[in-house]
Amino acid sequence: MYLKDFLAQEKTDKNLAEVILFLSSQAQDVKKGFLAAARNAIADEKTKNMYGEEQMALDKYADGIFINGLKKTRLVRSIATEEQDHIIEIENPKNDFGIVIDPLDGSSLIDVNLCVGTIIGICKGSVLDAGKDMIAAMYILYGPLTTLTVSAGSGVHEFAMDEAGEFFLRQRDIRIPEGKIYAPGALRKDYLPAHAQWIARLEAAGYKLRFSGSFVADVHQILHKGGVFTYPGFAGKEKGKLRLLFEANPMGKIITDAGGATSNGKTAILSVKPEKIDQRTPVYIGGKKEIASIETFMRER
Ligand code: AHG
Ligand code: MN
Ligand code: MN
Repeated sequence: MYLKDFLAQEKTDKNLAEVILFLSSQAQDVKKGFLAAARNAIADEKTKNMYGEEQMALDKYADGIFINGLKKTRLVRSIATEEQDHIIEIENPKNDFGIVIDPLDGSSLIDVNLCVGTIIGICKGSVLDAGKDMIAAMYILYGPLTTLTVSAGSGVHEFAMDEAGEFFLRQRDIRIPEGKIYAPGALRKDYLPAHAQWIARLEAAGYKLRFSGSFVADVHQILHKGGVFTYPGFAGKEKGKLRLLFEANPMGKIITDAGGATSNGKTAILSVKPEKIDQRTPVYIGGKKEIASIETFMRER
């Protein structure tokens, strides 16, 4: 079954379904950018740093695809993206939705052809709404398959792109299983004490390390195999590295809707009211058991 038919069958709000379908259709253009960058890289293979700049440009390229498409279709009122320092307001919008986007997550892995993705949250109104008020979240993963994972009020479902660029249903009602994978960001030497103890506890319990450097891919693996991803606050950067609006909230909604949980170490990330679009947050995301355990460690310190 195709995404369009699935959304209709699930009785997804018509306007919301239109936004999800439009955003998913942009994946093909993002993929064209990967190919173009690879071709340029070969042409410029003598200038290694030039290739580096191409990688940077792909973030902007993907950003442009989503922003220009949304401006043209006027499907949403406002857009906040990781690549822009201000909220973009659309003139004469058809809906009141606010969209938050990390157009390309894991972009440092493009040159080595590892998995990267696009992360999107859809707010009913303001892009600065708390994560729990988002009406939908989705991510596109550009891997061996191009997949779309979406949560829009009726559970978490995964689709895969076919030869014609259409997304067909691959897995319905995904629930995060129990599992023993941990994906720990930041440098061990900078860990704060409670975090260090919690990591030691996971290791003693036999958790296996899986960290690629692509948040979206690492959390996707946790969604399917269980365990926990963390990019904590650390010495010198107590708020961590990852962004509340563009990374933590949309992925947090998907994991939470699949039966998992999120935390900043103290409280659920989705309950935090953002103050600014580029706000950072410590991130713990995965199984309920692991998230409860880090909050206990943090409380007891
Ligand atoms: P982005 O590519 O959007 O800038 O995000 C990169 C993020 C995230 O994907 C990943 O988990 C993290 O940065 C990796 O950081 P380290 O290089 O510090 O491990
Ligand atoms: Mn990112
Ligand atoms: Mn990014």
